Amino acid sequence: MHKNIVVAVDGPAGSGKSSVSKEVAKRAGLQYIDSGALYRAITLYVLTNCGEDFTQDDVSRLLNDIRLKQFFNDDGSCTTYCNGVDVSEKIRNETVATHIGKISDIVVVREYVNSLMRNWAKDHSIIVDGRDIGTVVFPDADIKIYLDATVEERALRRAKEYAQKGKNIDVNELKVQIARRDQQDINRPYGALRIAQDAIYIDTSAMTQQEVIDYMYSLVCDRIHSNYRT
Ligand code: CDP
Ligand code: CDP
Repeated sequence: MHKNIVVAVDGPAGSGKSSVSKEVAKRAGLQYIDSGALYRAITLYVLTNCGEDFTQDDVSRLLNDIRLKQFFNDDGSCTTYCNGVDVSEKIRNETVATHIGKISDIVVVREYVNSLMRNWAKDHSIIVDGRDIGTVVFPDADIKIYLDATVEERALRRAKEYAQKGKNIDVNELKVQIARRDQQDINRPYGALRIAQDAIYIDTSAMTQQEVIDYMYSLVCDRIHSNYRT
């Protein structure tokens, strides 16, 4: 008999959380949960129903109407549904990015997303990435990982991503954006980016993505095997 495990992965933007977590999930047979996508889906729903001049009351009211689901597919992608509609692509737009900070700072929104993820964890072994997963959402997670990398390295990674999509974005501009984002993530009132005391800290600046995946996979396997033994 083995119990479900929870792997919490936190870290700043561009540290590799989502790409690495999805690969580890595929290899270890865990469900991957993208907490950022849940905040994005709520933001999209609010914008669609109220436009950009929404109030906190609008958001609280709309939460009663939202039904979110997320599926981790065999090909390693993650699909997010809002009231039965696949919003996985739409939630990545610029308007959502502009307003997500305001929405994800609202306490009732955070409580809503957190309880959704805790419910999902009752039935599955999961790996969840975000900012406050090991500190707030799953303080008793079986494994807590904090992925990090220098601002320079994260800007280079993002620049490469853009280049693959045919867009040439200046690395220095990306560095400024990432540093600004880090400050917002660290200084927000709720759900701030913190390193949990019992987290395994991995500086990925000089590691390939494959090296990070292999290391995290080995940590997960050790934990699963020790659960079988106890
Ligand atoms: O989810 P998060 O914002 O933390 O990062 P990501 O979207 O998973 O990774 C950002 C980019 O860095 C992706 O293009 C990854 O393929 C790349 N990456 C890398 O080059 N080396 C690593 N060790 C981890 C990620
Ligand atoms: O854009 P990026 O991949 O870095 O972020 P994301 O994981 O898609 O999350 C988008 C935004 O949602 C973040 O910038 C945070 O404002 C918010 N978020 C949060 O507040 N708490 C989390 N656990 C995850 C995301």
